[in-house]
Amino acid sequence: MMKQVSFPLSLLVIIALFQCQTEIQAQVAPSPGPAGPTNITKILEKAGQFTTFIRLMKVTSMSDQINNQLNNSQNGMTVLAPTDNAFSSLKAGTLNSLTDQQKVQLMQFHVIPSYLSMSQFQTVSNPVRTQAGDVSARFPLNVTTSGNQVNVSTGVDDATVDNAIYTDGQLAVYQVDKVLLPLSLFGAPSPAEAPAPLSALPKKKKPSGGPESGDDAPAADSSGAAADAALHGMVACLGAGILFLATFWS
Ligand SMILES: *[C@@H]1O[C@H](CO)[C@@H](O)[C@H](O)[C@H]1NC(C)=O
Ligand SMILES: *[C@@H]1O[C@H](CO)[C@@H](O)[C@H](O)[C@H]1NC(C)=O
Ligand SMILES: *[C@@H]1O[C@H](CO)[C@@H](O)[C@H](O)[C@H]1NC(C)=O
Ligand SMILES: *[C@@H]1O[C@H](CO)[C@@H](O)[C@H](O)[C@H]1NC(C)=O
Repeated sequence: MMKQVSFPLSLLVIIALFQCQTEIQAQVAPSPGPAGPTNITKILEKAGQFTTFIRLMKVTSMSDQINNQLNNSQNGMTVLAPTDNAFSSLKAGTLNSLTDQQKVQLMQFHVIPSYLSMSQFQTVSNPVRTQAGDVSARFPLNVTTSGNQVNVSTGVDDATVDNAIYTDGQLAVYQVDKVLLPLSLFGAPSPAEAPAPLSALPKKKKPSGGPESGDDAPAADSSGAAADAALHGMVACLGAGILFLATFWS
């Protein structure tokens, strides 16, 4: 009689323990990690506050290109990612004034086809070559440093290279506070002030954190889900423990 009770019980224990373990694993390893191909979109989504950059990378196929190139390159890559705030501080209509080809060039200008750690920025020689090419006249990008501070200047605007969002020795992604405007696209003063189309305004949907979310704050809005998962895991583990004791005492 004991056996008839404990057999299904022990099965339950095994199932509960298994679930307990998988829940814990899911919590211990939430990041994409080195396993599997690197996915720039995923990295930026996880960091939050890059919705416009992600959208532009998508429409220009730049994200696919980066993912593919990373897989085949020995030199690695560096991506300078402007925040949503950087895009919303552009003059209205700036993005809409660009042709598809120019949007591709704008995205290429934010990608350096080699891996640069923060300290390597100190020793890089100017101008730095981006994926957009032609550093001499059309797409120059200069790095200036002072102490640990790193700025880049395009000849049209200057941006500060803020914290690293992601680095793995192959891919480095840094947050920048301005959209890097290439000389060839924005250098010449435009003869006519284009009226700003309303559709150019980025959607005001603020992601996690304030404007100064500081270090590597990993998306506050995911904490709810994490707490949920933690609770789930705890319940499963508690259940497993109780069942475990129950089998011993039956
Ligand atoms: C990269 O991640 C995005 C969003 O998480 C997803 O839509 C896309 O399919 C992924 N790309 C690849 C090549 O896995
Ligand atoms: C990466 O490259 C290898 C060989 O070069 C190829 O077999 C694999 O499919 C590529 N993976 C992706 C995600 O492109
Ligand atoms: C970087 O830019 C900031 C803001 O424009 C400026 O205050 C700082 O002096 C610059 N630093 C360097 C090293 O160019
Ligand atoms: C970048 O630096 C080079 C070499 O120092 C200089 O000739 C060039 O004018 C600079 N360009 C910009 C856009 O700052």
